[in-house]
Amino acid sequence: LRNKYIDLIATASDEATLEDVRLSALGKKGEVALKMRELGKMSPEERKTAGPALNALKDEINSALAAKKEALADAALDARLAGEWLDVTLPGRPRPQGSIHPVSQVIEEVTAIFADMGFSVAEGPQIDTDWYNFDALNIPGHHPARAEMDTFYMHRDEGDNRPPHVLRTHTSPVQIRHMEKHGAPCRIIAPGRVYRADYDQTHTPMFHQVEGLAIDRDISMANLKWVLEEFFAAFFEVDGIKTRFRASHFPFTEPSAEVDIQCSWEDGQLRIGEGDGWLEVLGSGMVHPKVLSAAGVDPAEWQGFAFGMGIDRIAMLKYGIPDLRAFFDSDLRWLRHYGFAS
Ligand code: PHE
Repeated sequence: LRNKYIDLIATASDEATLEDVRLSALGKKGEVALKMRELGKMSPEERKTAGPALNALKDEINSALAAKKEALADAALDARLAGEWLDVTLPGRPRPQGSIHPVSQVIEEVTAIFADMGFSVAEGPQIDTDWYNFDALNIPGHHPARAEMDTFYMHRDEGDNRPPHVLRTHTSPVQIRHMEKHGAPCRIIAPGRVYRADYDQTHTPMFHQVEGLAIDRDISMANLKWVLEEFFAAFFEVDGIKTRFRASHFPFTEPSAEVDIQCSWEDGQLRIGEGDGWLEVLGSGMVHPKVLSAAGVDPAEWQGFAFGMGIDRIAMLKYGIPDLRAFFDSDLRWLRHYGFAS
């Protein structure tokens, strides 16, 4: 009997089988229990040896069962550990990461450079009235500048008596909105989107400008030149970069100047800040007295400069990008090629 059960216990492969073995040995109707019951029919002498022997057998089977149960539990745990094993030293699978669009990056750079010179950021709506976009900037209804700007007009139904709205053609209306609200003195830049019906390698119907405006009692063109040269030196990372002011005309500035920066063009390689070539980068001038008046600022007391610069254009120059349209194609291969995405 002993050998039979010790064998059965040893070969049991799971807890359920082990429980069956226990019942058939020690259960109420188990073989050991039946033997125990037979003790009653024995003579006292027989019982003296059979009793302790049966008890010893019961103990032996019990402890064999307990030992086997523990062994099975250990094996189960080992199996689970082996199955759930994880190599924490494996390198991770990288996921593609988003990045800031190059135009947004350039806007952030421009904003930081002007912030160092005390300029804060102002904003205006991209859909504005023709008064802010034109009239207040000394561009009356018949002025040829309106046609030159290839303006997108918002549709108006007959009987709509709201003022005509346009997609702003430049950031200059933000000059008016800012001075109207905050008066003088002021020192702001206004980066943002502008719209003109134009499309080729260097023009897209939506593009970006940054407006600059500084108004105080004795601001001059000399301040404008210093501010711009500081800006270009920081932005293009060239100390002592030269600028050239060419007399020009804008209805909202008097005098007006177009500003070029120094560059060289050799072996198809454009270099900013060296050589004796020039590249036009912005329009500027002293804010016209009529513009100050339109914005509620007294031109007898205040004066200042304004400029408007193409952000996409200076981004193209800085990163050597030949086609402006690619900025707005959202082509990941293009973004990666110029290091704007990983
Ligand atoms: N608004 C002009 C443009 O879009 C640029 C400009 C701004 C010129 C401010 C002078 C002063 O071309």
